[in-house]
Amino acid sequence: MGEDGAMSDASSTRSAAAGRVVVTGAAGKLGRAVVADLAAHGWSVLSVDRVRPAGGTGEFVAVDLTDYAQVLDVLAGRVDEHGGAVDAVVHLAAIPAPGIVPNSATFANNATASWNVFNAARAAGIRSVVWASSETVLGLPFDTPPPYAPVDEEYRVRPESTYSLVKALEEEMAHHLCRWDPELSMIGLRFSNVMEPADYEQFPGYDADPLLRKWNLWGYIDARDGAQAVRRALAHQVPGMEVFIVANADTVMSRSSAELMAEVYPGVEVRRQLGEHETLLCIDKARRVLGYEPEHSWRDTGAAG
Ligand SMILES: NC(=O)c1ccc[n+]([C@@H]2O[C@H](COP(=O)([O-])OP(=O)(O)OC[C@H]3O[C@@H](n4cnc5c(N)ncnc54)[C@H](O)[C@@H]3O)[C@@H](O)[C@H]2O)c1
Repeated sequence: MGEDGAMSDASSTRSAAAGRVVVTGAAGKLGRAVVADLAAHGWSVLSVDRVRPAGGTGEFVAVDLTDYAQVLDVLAGRVDEHGGAVDAVVHLAAIPAPGIVPNSATFANNATASWNVFNAARAAGIRSVVWASSETVLGLPFDTPPPYAPVDEEYRVRPESTYSLVKALEEEMAHHLCRWDPELSMIGLRFSNVMEPADYEQFPGYDADPLLRKWNLWGYIDARDGAQAVRRALAHQVPGMEVFIVANADTVMSRSSAELMAEVYPGVEVRRQLGEHETLLCIDKARRVLGYEPEHSWRDTGAAG
């Protein structure tokens, strides 16, 4: 369901969007996977970050996104050696969690960078913006239990940290920017906890105590599947603002999702018959509207035993 109640589905989107895209946060965990995926699918990618991506060989510009002049130069295609009209922006750069730096520093960096990217995109005439929102807006760490499970996009955001508050503000800001410009498409992907294959070795250690990972309802997102969601969001050229939960199809645990809910959140309504390890971070909307389908489960690796 769209924000305004309009239904759209994967079949209504362009199948093979590709052009020139700026990816911010390109040196990060998610950014590296996104740059690789978009380049492999025909996009001309300009990577942007404060630091150069390790081992990266593609086009890169060092940018401090808190400086509006730098952001505008990049998105307007006015950087020497890296010019050319930009068709889309994928904005991933942020301090990626609460507590890494003091709250005011998280706010100053993340809110300023996002405003700069969103506003410069508009100024440069870019009509396609995909950015990293976060599962945290759903109410993580769920010290207050979720309203129901699986959680979805249908209830009002519940940020519980400054980091998450900025993500919620970005969603609100995007809603109004799209109201101001009816041709603008802004898609916020509420990523779960990002994992690379090497991270899966830790997963069996989560099993002993169901409280260890209750903070995000035992969810995760493989960086490569996160990249798939970004690519599909770019192809979804429908004006307006939309948000999608992006998680893998299963949990990090070996006991069943129904058992986990009964044990840790016995008072929370479980709204449907759950598959054995079905994600409690509902990805139905991303599946239906974007055609997203996770391809990389930790269970398919050696870590699952
Ligand atoms: N890691 C997770 O579990 C997770 C979960 C949900 C959402 N997210 C979001 O996904 C995005 C990517 O996360 P990640 O895990 O790849 O983080 P990361 O820390 O690995 O990468 C973030 C990148 O952003 C860059 N950056 C930050 N501020 C910048 C600035 N002012 N100017 C230029 N570059 C700047 C950093 O240098 C870094 O390379 C973030 O927006 C994060 O909030 C992450």
